[in-house]
Amino acid sequence: MPPLRLAIAGLGAIGAEVARAVRAGEAPGVEIAAVVEPIPGPTRDRLAAAGVPVHIDLDALDWDSLDAVLEAASQAALRTIAPQVLKRGVNLVALSAGATLDGDFLASLLSAAQASGARIWVPSGAIGALDVIRAARVGDVASITLTTTKPPVALVDAPWVVEQGINLTSIDDRRVIFSGGPVEAVRGFPQNVNVAALLALAADGPDRLRVTVVADPAAPGNVHEVEAIGSFGSMRLRLENRPSETNPKTSALAAQSVIALLRQLGSPLRFA
Ligand SMILES: NC(=O)c1ccc[n+]([C@@H]2O[C@H](COP(=O)([O-])OP(=O)(O)OC[C@H]3O[C@@H](n4cnc5c(N)ncnc54)[C@H](O)[C@@H]3O)[C@@H](O)[C@H]2O)c1
Repeated sequence: MPPLRLAIAGLGAIGAEVARAVRAGEAPGVEIAAVVEPIPGPTRDRLAAAGVPVHIDLDALDWDSLDAVLEAASQAALRTIAPQVLKRGVNLVALSAGATLDGDFLASLLSAAQASGARIWVPSGAIGALDVIRAARVGDVASITLTTTKPPVALVDAPWVVEQGINLTSIDDRRVIFSGGPVEAVRGFPQNVNVAALLALAADGPDRLRVTVVADPAAPGNVHEVEAIGSFGSMRLRLENRPSETNPKTSALAAQSVIALLRQLGSPLRFA
């Protein structure tokens, strides 16, 4: 099979790790065709020195040479990157899933992909259980709950924390700081609760999902607990995610989930 030629948009915690892994041969059958990163940094310099085309925006990409673009930047970036990628018939790997809770934006992505024949691949990111939720939706699902617990430092600057005037430094015990639907959760914690959007995508919509965010100085990292109840029975998942070394707001598992997705694309064995 010809290699899958991937452009990476965003060389932060996730994009840099994916670039390293692909170049180290950890995703056989995948090549880095280009990277897009507006801010100078050591990863960008290393890739440029290794001969990888480096761009500051998508305009300079050689689209005909690409099979897929990985968005590993931000929700705002996904909104500008995704339409450009999909209209050219190039597949999109989307990490900033929070943006898809905007129903109009999600619908526009799906119709752009349908029109061009491109595919949107959504890695499992910092969560699991999406397979169970998707299968459960074939029957009836009564409720899905997500409880995300993080050390206060991982919640600094979240819009909800700022708007509500929550003093994170004064939190010395486990404290619920948000409870509500996934749309409000992702608005209030755009860099932290992409997992809520992933669960909503797997559940075909946000209606059945409730989200709680807990600040806990004793949290052993980023903890996600998912519970689902439905005609299939019930499910409970607890993930204690180690934060990425370069971005405490991102779980190390998120980059690994992209690498796992890229491995699967080159494999005859498909999990879903
Ligand atoms: N789906 C999940 O479970 C999950 C998990 C963790 C993080 N995320 C999301 O993935 C995204 C990347 O996370 P990260 O920790 O690597 O972020 P990061 O902040 O470490 O890095 C983002 C990088 O993208 C670059 N960037 C910004 N706008 C860009 C644009 N328009 N084009 C190209 N590059 C651009 C930035 O300069 C930065 O280097 C974030 O939106 C984050 O919320 C999703």
